[in-house]
Amino acid sequence: MLDKVLSVPYTLPFAKKFFWTNWYNLFASLFSDVNISFMNYGFAELSPTAAKLNLNSHDESERYCLQLYHHVASSIPLNDKDVLEVGCGRGGGSSFIKRYLSPKSMTGVDISDNNVNLCKKKYAIPNLSFGHGDAEALKFADGSFDVVVNVESSHCYRNISDFFSESFRVLRPDGYFLYADFRPQPEINDLLNQLKQAGFTLVKQESIAANVLAAMDLENHRKSKIIQDSIPKILHGLTSTFAGIEGTHYYQGFKSRDYEYFFYLLQK
Ligand SMILES: C[S@@+](CC[C@H](N)C(=O)[O-])C[C@H]1O[C@@H](n2cnc3c(N)ncnc32)[C@H](O)[C@@H]1O
Repeated sequence: MLDKVLSVPYTLPFAKKFFWTNWYNLFASLFSDVNISFMNYGFAELSPTAAKLNLNSHDESERYCLQLYHHVASSIPLNDKDVLEVGCGRGGGSSFIKRYLSPKSMTGVDISDNNVNLCKKKYAIPNLSFGHGDAEALKFADGSFDVVVNVESSHCYRNISDFFSESFRVLRPDGYFLYADFRPQPEINDLLNQLKQAGFTLVKQESIAANVLAAMDLENHRKSKIIQDSIPKILHGLTSTFAGIEGTHYYQGFKSRDYEYFFYLLQK
């Protein structure tokens, strides 16, 4: 039943945008008092000998979500760059990039006003700013940024080509687009074609589905507890699905590889 409900936003583009915008506004109100800075499925290294990312103690509780940002954003040097994050959610990723990777400026935008208000309330860091923004119609002049970052947000957009053209437009010449998200496997080739049509060159392409699934396993207990403790019972099923709890729709999709989780490094 829930699977049928979840397929609606994917088949009706208008419903998709309406659904996700309202879902994230609701989620931000339900969890306004809960100390969550990220809303992604996370990233775990698969090799036991991989170097462990050094984090400040207050970042440890959301290590895997943060590691997804680290994997994406450390793919190029960001120091002295003007960076835009589209779909910044609750701001944890933009804050991580500003604090750990030292760009000149970091700007996060999100379509959910409730998310943007949470970000503004939580983070007071020099040269880190947040605002309302729609990925499909960005309110920035051409060539405003050196780098655009987009993590686990683009599956919510009505017209993905508009987002790709907008990212291309706001980037300076040779600027980079750091892009991670998931899609049903059969949609991947179309997505790559749309990126090329927007003008981007694919510099690096990675499947990180196994890393994301490993993080989901490691996060299962923490996320289940937050849902049990902080969410009205009537929303447990839907919230568990979006949180990627073991056995739910997206968890199973990554496990069976019906869904791909990709990271693309692209250049203008
Ligand atoms: C799964 S959350 C990921 C948030 C954040 N990137 C993270 O990893 O924690 C998806 C985010 O995309 C935002 N979003 C959805 N549609 C959007 C759009 N058209 N423009 C900008 N943001 C959008 C949602 O409001 C939500 O905050």
